[in-house]
Amino acid sequence: MATSTTPHGAFTHTPLRPFGRIVEAAGGARITDVPAEVLARWTEESRVLVLRGFDLMAKEEFATYCRRWGEVLKWEPGEVIDLVVEDNPRNYLFASGDVPFHWDGAFVEANPRYFFFQCLNATPGAGGETVFSDTTAAYRDADAELREQWAGISLTYSTEKLAHYGGLITERLVSQHPATGVPVLRFAEPLDPAVYKNPVHVQVDGFGAAATEEFLAGMAERLHRPEYCYAHDWRTGDIVIADNYALVHGRNAFSGPTNRHLQRVEVI
Ligand SMILES: [Fe+2]
Repeated sequence: MATSTTPHGAFTHTPLRPFGRIVEAAGGARITDVPAEVLARWTEESRVLVLRGFDLMAKEEFATYCRRWGEVLKWEPGEVIDLVVEDNPRNYLFASGDVPFHWDGAFVEANPRYFFFQCLNATPGAGGETVFSDTTAAYRDADAELREQWAGISLTYSTEKLAHYGGLITERLVSQHPATGVPVLRFAEPLDPAVYKNPVHVQVDGFGAAATEEFLAGMAERLHRPEYCYAHDWRTGDIVIADNYALVHGRNAFSGPTNRHLQRVEVI
């Protein structure tokens, strides 16, 4: 644990495990008290940055603030997406089950660099943790043979547009982080039509069905290993900034009733 002092106040920095950082203010701090370049550096170093004790922003103010970081991605519903668990959702993101690993923006033209959340309401102990997996660590730990195999892999993802995204995309598995240059994995788990309201089909280019299935299961198992995963248990008032290139993310199922309300903005 370390304390940093800016001209506007003192913040306590605590590492999260196995990666991430929580920066706490005594209360009443504003996100603008810390220059965006400093927050961006902390996010780049830690990959997940949790701000606690900072005032939440009104919806418009949230989008306006995020423009300090870059271009804000415009979804059909707007720049700020309300993530509220619904009783009868069109799309699995709004249901109470788990959300498998993915990166944000897969089905849009732009690749968001960061995503921002603010938590307007959370139900402690009801599950629904957001789980982040550090693909830079998974790549780092892979041996030369596996890295070589991965380097040749492209995956095609397809989904029907039922929410604010949809379509067909092909991506190489191994990509490069735009800021740090380190290798990252772009991987999303398939969504079984029997389980999820908005299925996603995944095909490894050049692989048959059995080889695709084996590859997908192996990659999912690897990225779910505890040494690569940080699960964020939300508290009302949390602001979270995450590196959408270095990480994939998903959500644990809720274990009980919840009225959780998150707002999310993506920055390109
Ligand atoms: Fe997401």
